[in-house]
Amino acid sequence: MTAGLPDLSVDLGPLRLAHPLVNASGTLDLFEAAAALEEPALLREPPVAAYVPKTVTLRPRRGNEPPRIVETEAGLLNSIGLPNAGVEAFVEEELPRLLALPRPIILNVGGFSPEEYGLLAARLRRGVEALLGADPSAWTTRVGLELNVSCPNVHSGCISIGTDPAETRSAVAGARVEWPGLLVVKLTPNVTDIVPIARAAAEAGASALSLVNTFKGLVLDRVTLRPYLGGATGGLSGPAVKPLALRLVFEVAAAVGLPIVGMGGVCSVGDVLDFMACGARVVAVGAAGFRDPWLPARLVQELAHALADRRWTLADLIGCAHRGVKNPRNVLRPPTP
Ligand SMILES: Cc1cc2nc3c(=O)[nH]c(=O)nc-3n(C[C@H](O)[C@H](O)[C@H](O)COP(=O)(O)O)c2cc1C
Repeated sequence: MTAGLPDLSVDLGPLRLAHPLVNASGTLDLFEAAAALEEPALLREPPVAAYVPKTVTLRPRRGNEPPRIVETEAGLLNSIGLPNAGVEAFVEEELPRLLALPRPIILNVGGFSPEEYGLLAARLRRGVEALLGADPSAWTTRVGLELNVSCPNVHSGCISIGTDPAETRSAVAGARVEWPGLLVVKLTPNVTDIVPIARAAAEAGASALSLVNTFKGLVLDRVTLRPYLGGATGGLSGPAVKPLALRLVFEVAAAVGLPIVGMGGVCSVGDVLDFMACGARVVAVGAAGFRDPWLPARLVQELAHALADRRWTLADLIGCAHRGVKNPRNVLRPPTP
């Protein structure tokens, strides 16, 4: 507590975060933003408690045909398709500068079969060890791994993995064998019931869950009345999805005891309060960060003041929406702050 403001630090597995605000994968490239906006402060003092780079795959990918992104009334529809140079180039070119940032890093990987998650985790572990030392205690407090089992814009592989409990279990278990540190599993909202998938991830060794990835959607070209995006369908994010995402965080927090990274349409401190009240311990800013990469830092200040106004600690806030609620899913374990 400084100057009457509450302590905002939170633990996410072995990572100790100074506050609960991070970025959502694929929506903030700190290096590009710092260069484009001529703001080196983004690298000196990143506006997030941990930095999550975009998804890396085993092999290089070109991504989907343009156009890849379109605005909707209250959000963004994207069909980017995970373009990246592949894990070998990532380890050689990206990892050193990521590990030099003054924040913990949560690497994010996407696979096209459950086995690929183990291969990706093993390759990243070797890369991290080469830079930070082979003893896990030298780096597991600084580097975590997020498994993107939920990208809606690739037409095989990881979309189906995150919709199927057995495949999710197998992907997570494979990565767990190779990765001794924080293991976050990023869930898709594009399922009838998210709880069995969340449970499978937890049972297979996830140390936290992040939710949600984007919702499958479609925008038509106004003139041709055909799909606008090169990938035809896309993933919807932004304010339009917030109540949908909030419901999913609420349900997963009620059913699974793991820490949750909540996201989906976060723009304001009210959104941060909502996600944390529903059980998120950490909150990620996604599409809103395109407009203002400093938004997470502002939200941290506003969160501190919002808590101080209520005379609440973070522990009072996290999961408070569940207390006293008769949930049809039967609140098995109220989320622990
Ligand atoms: C342009 C764009 C690119 C994204 N790329 C990734 C990605 O590479 N990996 C990933 O796990 N999620 C990716 N996402 C999903 C976001 O991390 C987040 O889950 C989603 O956008 C919901 O948050 P929001 O409504 O605040 O944007 C992407 C989202 C957008 C809009």
